[in-house]
Amino acid sequence: MEMKKTELETETKQKDILILGIESSCDETAASVVKNGRMVLSNVISSQIDLHTLYGGVVPEIASRKHIERINQVVTQALADAGVTLDDITAIAVTYGPGLVGALLVGVAEAKAIAFAADKPLVGVHHIEGHISANFIEHKELEPPFACLVVSGGHTHLVVVKDYGEYEIIGKTCDDAAGEAFDKVARAIGLGYPGGPKIDKVAKEGNPEAIHFPRAKVGENAYDFSFSGLKSAVLNYLNACEMKGESVNTADVAASFQKAVTDVLVEHAMHACEQYGFKKFAIAGGVASNSALRAAMEEACAKRHITFYRPSPVFCTDNAAMIAVAGYYEYCKGTRSGWDLNAVPNLKLGER
Ligand code: KG4
Ligand code: ZN
Repeated sequence: MEMKKTELETETKQKDILILGIESSCDETAASVVKNGRMVLSNVISSQIDLHTLYGGVVPEIASRKHIERINQVVTQALADAGVTLDDITAIAVTYGPGLVGALLVGVAEAKAIAFAADKPLVGVHHIEGHISANFIEHKELEPPFACLVVSGGHTHLVVVKDYGEYEIIGKTCDDAAGEAFDKVARAIGLGYPGGPKIDKVAKEGNPEAIHFPRAKVGENAYDFSFSGLKSAVLNYLNACEMKGESVNTADVAASFQKAVTDVLVEHAMHACEQYGFKKFAIAGGVASNSALRAAMEEACAKRHITFYRPSPVFCTDNAAMIAVAGYYEYCKGTRSGWDLNAVPNLKLGER
């Protein structure tokens, strides 16, 4: 029997899995609707950057308060932009860690309230799993296994993505995260917060070979990183210039620092791909939007016949589409969170 159009539509609708993702782990209040894990129907991000710029960094208390003010509106907008109602949503996915505890709690409480009121399943998502999953949005053909470098404000992880939701961390930073180093150096050279995008921009006017900053080697693990020595080297250079009464070329410092970070990230990532035999390599996290890093990784991968994947910059920095994508794969695996879901500020990748 042939189905009427409305019946067919209903059936198709039932087959589609729509995830409402919510993200509030740091200074972006975000919500998104994603269809079948890969198609972004809406992506609303309300950034608080302007507020925190006044203080030179994220002020946790202000972040929590702003999330509370904005979250309902952001969720409503995400549903409206997607052209759906809560009824159409299959499940609610929310970042529950890692991040700022007060900020995380706002998203978790919102997601629990919506899931409870609308009688929908709730899926807690790891923020870094979200960053990695951002690669699935624009690379429909990408499937695990692959290697991924996660570089954000709080994390620098070299990860083997064994399967959806299955990770092995093979390298990590021993001190500062890559994004943290960008932010600290930006502050030292007077660029202010947020440092990453500002260094990226200013570096385009500078010479990356002007100053040789050290490329730190750390301990036994060839895949670990260390950025605090590099940060100190930049500070020492600035102090030495001041003592000698020499003027500092900000663009050259930015470009040389960025080159030192990029060289180390590329070297370790390519070493891992070669040792593990990976032919697919992805980058993720806020620092993955850095233009010099993207260009250097692209070139290094091409040289080794490795396929390089990277999300568009809007999906590299914090967003809720990536949380909905990760939530989709967790939902399909049967992951469900209870009403006791709580914020876990130090949640480790792979832990629940
Ligand atoms: O992933 P993300 O938005 O938030 C965290 O989970 O931490 O990453 C934020 C970090 C900040 O340290 C910011 O300075 C850095 O990413 N970042 C960049 C760029 N855009 C953002 N770093 C270098 N170049 C960029 N273009
Ligand atoms: Zn992030």
